[in-house]
Parts: sequence; structure tokens; C-alpha cells
Amino acid sequence: MIDFNALAQEYQTPLYVYDLDAMSSQFEALKTAFKGRKSLMAYAVKANSNLSVVKHFASLGAGADCVSIGEVRRALMAGIPKYKIIFSGVGKRDEEIREALQNDILYINVESDGELGRVDAIAAELGVQARISIRVNPNIDPKTHPYISTGLHANKFGVDLDVAKRMYIRAKNSSNLDPVGIHFHIGSQLTELDPIREAAEIVADLVRSLSVLDIELKFFDIGGGLGIRYKEETTIDPYDYAQAILGTLRGLDLTVVMEPGRFLTANAGHFLTRVLYEKRNGTKRFVVVDGAMNDLIRPSLYNAYHGIEAPFRTGECTEADIVGPVCESGDFLAKNYPLPQMEHNDLLVVHSAGAYGFGMGSNYNTRGRAAEVAVEGGKARLIRRRESFEDLIALEKEFLES
Ligand code: LLP
Repeated sequence: MIDFNALAQEYQTPLYVYDLDAMSSQFEALKTAFKGRKSLMAYAVKANSNLSVVKHFASLGAGADCVSIGEVRRALMAGIPKYKIIFSGVGKRDEEIREALQNDILYINVESDGELGRVDAIAAELGVQARISIRVNPNIDPKTHPYISTGLHANKFGVDLDVAKRMYIRAKNSSNLDPVGIHFHIGSQLTELDPIREAAEIVADLVRSLSVLDIELKFFDIGGGLGIRYKEETTIDPYDYAQAILGTLRGLDLTVVMEPGRFLTANAGHFLTRVLYEKRNGTKRFVVVDGAMNDLIRPSLYNAYHGIEAPFRTGECTEADIVGPVCESGDFLAKNYPLPQMEHNDLLVVHSAGAYGFGMGSNYNTRGRAAEVAVEGGKARLIRRRESFEDLIALEKEFLES
């Protein structure tokens, strides 16, 4: 049990708290499901990119799925071996491609023919052979929130099957490119297995037809997307997930690469915030807290639900909007949430905040970002200090006089 009260006192609020042991358990559960099969778990760094969190996954043997050269640098700095690093993303700049190739990472996930051309040219310039994988868009509806759905032709991600095939042939014919993998990721927070199975089936068929053309791939990269329980969602069991994927790979000798983010970190993270005021506008009840949309934007952006607990208050609950100090009506952590009467300084714990929480934060309203604390083996330690006003103006101050 994490002593949220003690942590809030010691490190102040708003505060992110991550249970590294819970992250390890999730990691092991997924790894065990693929036991006996060549697999690589490449942690999706974007879910929670704190260096100490990434380092923790490195210590468990994870690789990293990165979507910017900044994330690649984080992964390397946190001790993820270069041969376990993947670079994905729909819009890589030349300098990013160059640095990824210079770092000799496992492969680049290519998302367009234009990008393949750039990787080809930059590899030639550097005199290296670029290992690549192509992100296929299988046109499958993942049945999740539209903002985090990525596997339909209406989404910007990947290329369709025909284009992918032409790109593989182009790659095979280039001495600068080494096509080693195939990739798909149809969406995030997936709670249904069928769309994943269907997508895997389509992509595995493409692998077979490439083999006929003498293009032999090594890596079958199934992306991330495994959903977690925020409220009452039914989730996909890792074992069923593994069986569904492996079932599509009959007769193929491929290493399965996974890119889980949320599954590993979301429920291991908690966001602590303190009550500032209670107020009513007419009959509407508001609980104003010191955490806001700049700290945790998921409720505002996706209307996402996060379980919220008032650990030190009991009594009859009535519905309240839990809102932050930011000057936007969209600044809320929850709407119509049942809460007992709250007092100034009461603690609230917002759960399932370990993925896409801190990382999507901003400095809007000149608010410094929260501190982050890791708990491991019952011990807590600071892994990012709270941003100060000086931090926020550091890049502007020198221009005041000009
Ligand atoms: N691989 C690729 C290529 C991705 O685009 C993503 C997530 C992942 C892996 C990791 O997916 P996960 O296992 O975490 O579902 N901000 C949103 C989620 C955006 C996901 C973007 N891509 C949210 O807060 O729900």
C-alpha cells in the first residue's frame, strides 16, 4: 500500500506517483504470455517517458518504441540497448532519420513511400544499410475512441497493403535498405480481441506473399494498444492476446515485437491533488483542486474517466465536477463525480494516471509541471523535481532586453 498522504506531505501536490513494482508485474504478465516464442517487448516510451521509468523497463529487459529522436535519446540514456530500439512515427525529419541510423538501432518503422526514399538516401549518404519495417494500415476498425484509433484508411498512419508490397520490393532492390520487419498498430485502449486478430491475419498473409518474392522478414511488430481497466471495461487477457497473435503466424518463423505503453504503466500511476475550495453555482457543485488539465489532460481531451478517491473523507456523496484552476471550462478531472463533502487541503487520488498523464502535460497558464515520484520495494524517491517559475521563463528571459 502506498502512503499517499505521506507522499503528498513530503513532495507537495500536484504530484505523480508511480509504483514500479506494479509496472514490473504487468511486464512479466505480458512476457509470460509469449513464453516459448521469440519476442521483444519494446516499451512505448511516449506513455511515460520519465528516464527513471524507462530505466526500470531497461532493467527488466525491455526494448523501446520511440516516436521522436528525443525519445530515442531518452531510451539510450536510460540504458535500453540500441539493438532493442525501434523508431516509429508518421513524420520523421531528415536529422532524426540520420541520427537513428548513426545509432544503429534495431529498425525504423517506415510509414510512407516518401519516407522510404529519405531513409534510402540518408543511408546511402552515411554508407550504411538501414534496417526497416513498414507500417501497414490494415483498414480495421479497432472500436476505440476516434482520437486513438489508427488502423483505418481514414487515419494518417501507415500505408495500405498494395503500397506496402511495392515498398518492400523497392527496399529489396536498394542496396541501402534491409527490410527486416512488418508493423501494424490499429489503436490504443483496445478492449476487443477480434479486430487485433483480424489485423494480424491480414498482415501475416502479406508476410507470406512477400516470402514468395524472396523477401524474408524477421520481425512481426504488433504495436501496442492493449486496453486497461479505468472503470468497468472488460480487458483482453494477455494469454488470449498471445494465442490470437501466434495463431496467425502458423508456419512463420518470426520474432514477435510488441510496443505496449498503457498496459505497462497506466494503472501503476496515481495523480495526487489537494482540494482548494468547494463552491456551488446555483445547484451545481464544484470541487476546485490544485491539479488541472495542464497536468492531466485526458479527461478534457477524450472525456476520459479516471477513478478518483478521497481517502480521508467519508460521509454521504453527492455529485460534483472536480475542476482545476486553469481558465478554461474544459479544465476538469471529472464531471458529476460522487464525492463526500470536502475541506480545504483534503487529498484526492486520481487513479490510472501512469500513462499519457505527465507526458501530455503542458505549462499552460504558466503552471510548472508536477513533480514525479517512484515507489519501489516500499521506498519512495523523487524522479523529477517540480518545475519552478525560473524553469518556465528560462528560455525567454534573455530576450526581454532586446
Ligand atoms: N505503438 C504505436 C505505433 C503507437 O502509436 C502507440 C500509441 C503505442 C505503440 C502504444 O500504445 P498503448 O499500448 O499505450 O495503447 N494519448 C492517448 C493515447 C495515444 C496513443 C498513441 N499511440 C490516451 O491518453 O489515451
